[in-house]
Amino acid sequence: MTVTLQLTPEEQAMLEGAEGPGVQKAMEIVVTLGRIYGAVDLVPVRHVQIAGVSYKNLGEAGVAFLHAWAESGARVRVPTTLNPAGMELDRWQAMGIDPAFAQAQMKAVQAFMKMGITPTMSCTPYLFPPYAPHGGDHLAWAESSAVAWANSVVGAYTNREGGPSALAAAIVGRTARYGYHLPEYRRATHVVEVRCPVRTIADFGALSYMVGKRVGAGVPWFADLAAWLPPLPEDLTQGGAAGDRLKTLGAGLAAYGAVALYHVAGYTPEARDLGERLILPQASRVIIDSLDEGYQVMDADPEVTEIDLVTIGCPHASLSELRYIAQQLQGKNLATRLWVTTGRMTRERAQKEGLVAIIEAAGGEVVADTCAVVAPVRSLGIRTMATNAGKMANYAPMHSHVKMRYGDIDQCLDAAITGRWREKSSVISDR
Ligand code: F3S
Repeated sequence: MTVTLQLTPEEQAMLEGAEGPGVQKAMEIVVTLGRIYGAVDLVPVRHVQIAGVSYKNLGEAGVAFLHAWAESGARVRVPTTLNPAGMELDRWQAMGIDPAFAQAQMKAVQAFMKMGITPTMSCTPYLFPPYAPHGGDHLAWAESSAVAWANSVVGAYTNREGGPSALAAAIVGRTARYGYHLPEYRRATHVVEVRCPVRTIADFGALSYMVGKRVGAGVPWFADLAAWLPPLPEDLTQGGAAGDRLKTLGAGLAAYGAVALYHVAGYTPEARDLGERLILPQASRVIIDSLDEGYQVMDADPEVTEIDLVTIGCPHASLSELRYIAQQLQGKNLATRLWVTTGRMTRERAQKEGLVAIIEAAGGEVVADTCAVVAPVRSLGIRTMATNAGKMANYAPMHSHVKMRYGDIDQCLDAAITGRWREKSSVISDR
């Protein structure tokens, strides 16, 4: 059966160029995707998140493409925010970024801003009160870790958009209704039983590797993971012990597999509402007995002991992570570089609580707008890194050609204080 994409008169007029060539191009992209995926209509979106913002990803051709689109008069018609750039926008000199890179990066950000996009420069729009989504919202988000959060933790609806398709959705205020916008595509394809302890954020990262590799683009149903999760906080924009684990889990599932939605039995909103009816009858079973395989892959370079950069905050650090780090670093002196990467809106909240001052007094940096994957860290002399973030452990060696150590946050902070990676102490971290 051929499905015909129905457009409203307003949408049809945009497609025919009534609102200018920039809007027409955007509508062509949205409509083409809708036809490819068999959408019946378009759905208005409440918020758009654009990814692929770093000049490291865009290159000259990408920047020229953005400028041309902005020049054609295209403007966003729904709140739209940006992923991290390759540097902190107003502190790039202090970071040691090459002026040529900085100039090209600023040109890209200016093109986005000309189209009316807010330069939040973060992969965690869900931690910012003005943009945090609600259950049932339709979104067009391009950051894969944020997509997993919105669909799974909040119960909003979004596909994993590409950079141009998210921008097109922002310009027309709609996206094609297919995939995760439809309830029938939100059912679980795999039932995952976890039979080992999953205590720390790093454990959740290791789990994300093992499950992501096994389920690919499927929808995992975690049958018993709620036992390792504290209750979800009322205010999800602070992260909290549960949010920080789920932030890492979703990011790793999306990075190691292509997961855009997962359910935790009795815990995440749709799993709470619909229960096991969400599981497809033909769902496969995945059993995880141990996290060793994940740790072996992510702690990729065990011969490395000297650490150039410890990086925490992938996805960008939450207020609760900043609170924990400040508490651990109070009165300490760091021996190596520490980046706590976060969104500028979260950093402002942390500044008000005095957390940034404590971390900086120890010699650490609370870096906004960027991260160690999208910033040109090789050119900053960084060759070895340590992290507690599952996605960072995979992406930084790939994108920035660094050697990586992986462990829990206390091991990472110990490495920042001593400059050396030491095996797990007898103290068992629960962060
Ligand atoms: Fe965000 Fe960078 Fe990680 S964009 S999800 S902190 S790789």
